Amino acid sequence: MNTPICDFVKNYAQSDTLRLHMPGHKGMSFLGCENLDITEISGADALYGADGIIAESEKNATELFGNKATFFSAEGSSQCIKAMLCLAKMKSDSSDFTVLASRNVHKAFIYACGLLNIRVRWLFDESDKFSLCRCNITAQQLDKELEKEKADAVYVTSPDYLGGELDIKALSDVAHSHGAVMLVDNAHGAYLHFLGESRHPMDLGADMCCDSAHKTLPVLTGGAYLHINNERYVDSAKKALEMFGSTSPSYLILQSLDLCNEYLADGYKDKLNNCINRVEKLKKQLSDNGWKVQQSDPLKLTVLSSGINLSERLRQNAIECEYEDPDYTVMMFTPENPDITYEKIISAFGVCDIKNAPPAMFLPIPEKCMEISDALFSQNERVSLENAVGRVVADTSVGCPPAVSVVVSGEKISEKTAEIMRYYGIDKISVVR
Ligand SMILES: Cc1ncc(COP(=O)(O)O)c(C=O)c1O
Repeated sequence: MNTPICDFVKNYAQSDTLRLHMPGHKGMSFLGCENLDITEISGADALYGADGIIAESEKNATELFGNKATFFSAEGSSQCIKAMLCLAKMKSDSSDFTVLASRNVHKAFIYACGLLNIRVRWLFDESDKFSLCRCNITAQQLDKELEKEKADAVYVTSPDYLGGELDIKALSDVAHSHGAVMLVDNAHGAYLHFLGESRHPMDLGADMCCDSAHKTLPVLTGGAYLHINNERYVDSAKKALEMFGSTSPSYLILQSLDLCNEYLADGYKDKLNNCINRVEKLKKQLSDNGWKVQQSDPLKLTVLSSGINLSERLRQNAIECEYEDPDYTVMMFTPENPDITYEKIISAFGVCDIKNAPPAMFLPIPEKCMEISDALFSQNERVSLENAVGRVVADTSVGCPPAVSVVVSGEKISEKTAEIMRYYGIDKISVVR
């Protein structure tokens, strides 16, 4: 597969052209990558008006993923989520566009709804095993909710931060049977299209989804895809992305996405399959050593780590994890991890010494007092959690990872929800004045 963006930039970098354009480093070496860092000069195309090398590379990506259209983002799934919701609202006939969303949304969704003034109804996990990142929504539950009250779009996160996957096929069927479009935050699952049998949301009926290419593929941070399978959104997609992006998208990231096309086309399926087998073996070895390995998407290793500081233990063995919360530690793998990775993990984990099971937590449905948009743009103040009980959340104020909130903008904090927030280490929050 060709790499038109990389080729163009390489030729330009090797030419003797005097750079009297941005960026200000003029191709001189500071970090070391500057000679490949250009802007939208003649021949370089323009991300939001692509008809040259960027359009060609996006066409390659479209072919690889087998969608109606795949567009690049140099600003992560965060930008794609906003664009996706913008498109869904823009093309809807509804005068009161409403999204039915699973509760474990990334904060980019909250900000998108705030900026676009979108009404949200929530789908909560109905089990009594509340975990911040997880929200197990079933097709039956979705059907019941849509039967009760219609929604224009359904939005779910799959895989979630712990690697939990939803039945996107069944959820899409239900959404479509009620006339709603199916939107998926697949930030953690770009690679799912390349499994022996695809588990990518676009292959399971989603109308649109975002992938953070940078999370699971060899792409620079910020590289992401907006995938579309519903013709009505294709023409306006660039406009929607542009509304939430910089007018100076990074050509380093665009080159990285371009090069990734070649990587995916050239033996990636086999490499992925080998890697998954190796991770499976690792999971089995850890289970044999007593560790409670959680079910997750194939490139994640999620281990119960309640009451022990597993990530610090691993850090002392020169291993850095992706994410930890009071109950789980998450590691992410790709075929690029060297073979030594797996022995190092086994040795650093040792034999399981966890004594406590995670507490059974139930999230009472928070009281909604305002729309997200009104709360986000309200006069607000940052207060300690103790002083926040009884107040309405303005900004969700959660860091990334996982950027998932217990109580979202416009909802009231109760004693019980404050307790859950405390459990997840949140001690300050922005509330409406
Ligand atoms: C579930 C989920 N969605 C969206 C995002 C945002 O992705 P990006 O960092 O590519 O903007 C993240 C980031 O961690 C995420 O975990």
